[in-house]
Amino acid sequence: MNILILGSGGREHALAWAVMQNPKCDRLIVAPGNAGIAKIADCASLNAEDGGAVVTFAEENAIDFVIVGPEAPLAAGVADRLRDAGILVFGPSEAAARLEASKSFTKEICDAADAPTAGYGHFTDAEAAKAHVRASGAPIVVKADGLAAGKGVIVAMDEQTALDAIDDMFGGAFGGAGAEVVIEEFMEGEEASLFVLCDGEEILSIGTAQDHKRVGEGDTGLNTGGMGAYSPAPILSAEVEARAMEEIVKPTMRVMAERGMPYQGVLYAGLMIKDGQPRLVEYNVRFGDPECQVLMMRLGAQALDLMQAAAEGRLADARVNWAEDHAITVVMAANGYPGDYQKGSEIKGLAALPEDSMNMVFHAGTKAEGDKILANGGRVLNVTARGDSLTEARDRAYAMVDQIDWPEGFVRRDIGWRAL
Ligand code: AMP
Ligand code: GLY
Repeated sequence: MNILILGSGGREHALAWAVMQNPKCDRLIVAPGNAGIAKIADCASLNAEDGGAVVTFAEENAIDFVIVGPEAPLAAGVADRLRDAGILVFGPSEAAARLEASKSFTKEICDAADAPTAGYGHFTDAEAAKAHVRASGAPIVVKADGLAAGKGVIVAMDEQTALDAIDDMFGGAFGGAGAEVVIEEFMEGEEASLFVLCDGEEILSIGTAQDHKRVGEGDTGLNTGGMGAYSPAPILSAEVEARAMEEIVKPTMRVMAERGMPYQGVLYAGLMIKDGQPRLVEYNVRFGDPECQVLMMRLGAQALDLMQAAAEGRLADARVNWAEDHAITVVMAANGYPGDYQKGSEIKGLAALPEDSMNMVFHAGTKAEGDKILANGGRVLNVTARGDSLTEARDRAYAMVDQIDWPEGFVRRDIGWRAL
């Protein structure tokens, strides 16, 4: 089978790594890929958000299966173009991708599905939004409706912060994404994520994870794309997971199918859990990054079979082979991230590290220059390990971190603390 993965981050390196373990894979191309991916697969330059270009590329390279990593190509309808051309693809349609691309769409689907989530109001003008904030008081959450690269959510602990956020959003701080705003009730609890595959009808859980969004130890400081993650998430016990499936995920998938937008791909349900009750924070229509890295570490080669079964509508017969294991990933980021940072510093010591089913360094933002690996982004490496316990996995991951010689980068030393 010839496979094409769209994307260029640590998520896509982990997907590529899992796919390559599977003997079914004859050839793997990742577009555009990165320096780590280039060591295990072919990389090609391609505009992943241009459906026409992706179809032409897939046809020219005799691709049998396309796996879409990030949300932008999905929101741009790339999966639809591929399906129209008769090419097997893992990832939802443009219509179904609105579960991530529009917060108000998701809220309306949750209403129809009777899925527990935060109470909300949806606004198209600043004055009405501000009146709602004044009437509700703080804490309160202000969200740009559209895709804002993870930056369009302001959790306001006081009223003024919420009012300022409304001005920023309607003032264009998030471009078109902020032309509409959703204001939500603040939910308390502990956050965790549930990942399920869907084939339009059937749903299959493929694991739970928790990530660390704040840049600083003890979950302090600025928000980031994620400084580390681990799987499983202990707070998502079997009981809580079953509730999330029955009360949130299944009804959502049913409503999507009833409305003519059957969902196919991976659905990432971000949950807030309090006293054993999960409520939906958000859906994403793709794997999380860095959550994907720990899920792939645990699933290995079967990930390809499962994604193929979802794409072919065969999930009813699919099973996950679970091991009683734990995985953790520690993000190495460039000094200064998530603020300004330098690109181009050299990372040494990678070649000496183990690369096996227990230890993998996935590349997120790197570039090769001759024999050198250079930092080429904010989040640069995902140092990932598996073990019989989370402690074992963590010790393995930090042992690798300590062998990496990159003074221009930093890690959080406390990934997994909530679960340890
Ligand atoms: P989102 O992009 O919707 O996941 O929001 C980013 C982060 O903001 C989430 O991971 C939560 O930590 C926080 N958040 C979003 N909505 C709420 C809410 N209604 N109550 C409390 N925290 C929230
Ligand atoms: N790690 C959070 C995300 O991928 O959205």
